[in-house]
Amino acid sequence: MIHAMKCHNTVSLCFLIALLSLVSYSEGKNIFCYFESWTVYRPGNGKYDVDNIDPNLCTHIAFTFIGLNYDGTISILDPWESNNDGLNGFGKFVALKEQNSNLKALVSIGGWNEGSQKYSELTANPSKRAIFVKSALQFLEEHEFDGLDFDWEYPARRDSSNAKDKENFILLLQELKTAFEPKGYLLSAAVTGAARYIDISYDVQELSKVLDYINVMSYDFHGSFDSYVGHHTPLYASHLDAEHDNLDWNIAAGIEGWIERGMDISKINLGIATYARTFTLEDPSNTSLYAAIRDGGIAGPYTRQAGILGYNEICELYSEWPRYWDDEQKVPHKVSGNQWIGYEDEFSISEKVTYALDKNLGGFMIWSFDTDDFLGLCGNGTYPLIKSVLRTVEKNGYSIG
Ligand SMILES: *[C@@H]1O[C@H](CO)[C@@H](O)[C@H](O)[C@H]1NC(C)=O
Ligand SMILES: *[C@@H]1O[C@H](CO)[C@@H](O)[C@H](O)[C@H]1NC(C)=O
Repeated sequence: MIHAMKCHNTVSLCFLIALLSLVSYSEGKNIFCYFESWTVYRPGNGKYDVDNIDPNLCTHIAFTFIGLNYDGTISILDPWESNNDGLNGFGKFVALKEQNSNLKALVSIGGWNEGSQKYSELTANPSKRAIFVKSALQFLEEHEFDGLDFDWEYPARRDSSNAKDKENFILLLQELKTAFEPKGYLLSAAVTGAARYIDISYDVQELSKVLDYINVMSYDFHGSFDSYVGHHTPLYASHLDAEHDNLDWNIAAGIEGWIERGMDISKINLGIATYARTFTLEDPSNTSLYAAIRDGGIAGPYTRQAGILGYNEICELYSEWPRYWDDEQKVPHKVSGNQWIGYEDEFSISEKVTYALDKNLGGFMIWSFDTDDFLGLCGNGTYPLIKSVLRTVEKNGYSIG
């Protein structure tokens, strides 16, 4: 931010200070980190609470998720975890700002489990929208958040087929912005990372005007929801993608899709996943991309879901498994027996950060704190993945924030 200055003395010194603050304003990168509140229920070293958050790693933190009632009001999905008669998640989350006065703490509404239909009905109905705007304002004031992050997955997709979702979403965001502006609240959204879905869900030019940031979900490109092996965070296409009509099914194509349609690049935060998507191979001797799978990979002890592993689980349990580097997609995977793990490490994250800096994007979004090696059990310190983002930003001469 450029601060108001009094320039009484040397004009040249004032000019220098103004110039320096301009430079840091234009080059300071956002690091927008998500907290998954349900991770407080994980066992052992996987348990992740607000107290585990390092408030100096990120410029923005977002608490996920709050939900939506059918009447248009906000619903607290886990009152025990969130409220001050329970674990006081909201209270402790915003209190992290006491340890970093530049930190912004947002709350995120939506997420995969909320579905799309409720949000479609909300945005299509002017009186429900008015109720929502009022409820959101009250919520931010009561819990002292700095803004709202909108995570509708996704307008005009999944359980909503209303083609008008796209324009109705803009109406709601404009009404929120009008209500938020006098209070200085931030407004952001998490959006698809897949080029081919942008036009279905978003009016990019209007989104670019109304939002402070978009957090591009540059992950989940493949997973055990497919019938074959694929890396979920490929930066670029593999030559094998051509015959499967998947040449646009990667992170760079998605980001370029947003840029081409007119999204303000300084508002784009590139999503970085700290978790892996995993597979059980049909035939352990075929470990290629597009090889047939039987199922997701074996669940980990913390994330406890077939087809998913945290980086912390991989580095604690599978550090001995051989690592393979896909130089086309710029991502590593591990294979052992019939298990195939497509993950991110310090090196692949640094490739993505370099890509985003070359594109002059505004910054990075991290999904999420809890699957990095937050305890530092694997020998490279705490939060090695998030720190790889920070290190690469700084190594390239940019500042944070
Ligand atoms: C592995 O599976 C892919 C996809 O079915 C196939 O194209 C490829 O020929 C297989 N490779 C081997 C070595 O069996
Ligand atoms: C840990 O850090 C060292 C030094 O930066 C690096 O060479 C190594 O690859 C890192 N280990 C992992 C698993 O990323």
